[in-house]
Amino acid sequence: MRLARTPLLVALSAVPLGALAACSSDAPQRPSDPVLAQGYDVYQARCAACHGNEGEGGAGLNLQKVEERLTQEQHVEVVTNGRSSMPAYESVLSPEEIQAVVRYERESL
Ligand code: HEC
Repeated sequence: MRLARTPLLVALSAVPLGALAACSSDAPQRPSDPVLAQGYDVYQARCAACHGNEGEGGAGLNLQKVEERLTQEQHVEVVTNGRSSMPAYESVLSPEEIQAVVRYERESL
């Protein structure tokens, strides 16, 4: 019985590895910095559908180099209160999550 379990464990452990490999081709890697990692999580969950996995745009604007167009303050303001068809996130995200996603967009996209 003991010996028979080993191949099953090996087979199971291969599944998450395969799933990870599949994910990494769709989305950029999760940063190791804890605040950027939080920003990445918020971005992938709430923003990527409109702004693209890598900020390339879609229904929402391209956000690559957004740090050259908006000051930090303007950036937080757009995400907090929305603008035109960009939704407001004041009642959806905590101020900490907004800061994290703004930092992720400015530094990592
Ligand atoms: C339903 C689609 C949608 C979602 C979801 C969305 N956005 Fe947007 N976003 C837009 C659109 C559309 C605009 C352009 C608004 C305008 O024309 O003024 C925009 C604009 C922006 C801008 C301003 C860019 C610039 O160059 O002025 C920022 C920053 C931004 N979004 C961040 C975010 C963040 C952060 C999230 C997730 C928390 C998010 N967006 C989620 C659609 C979306």
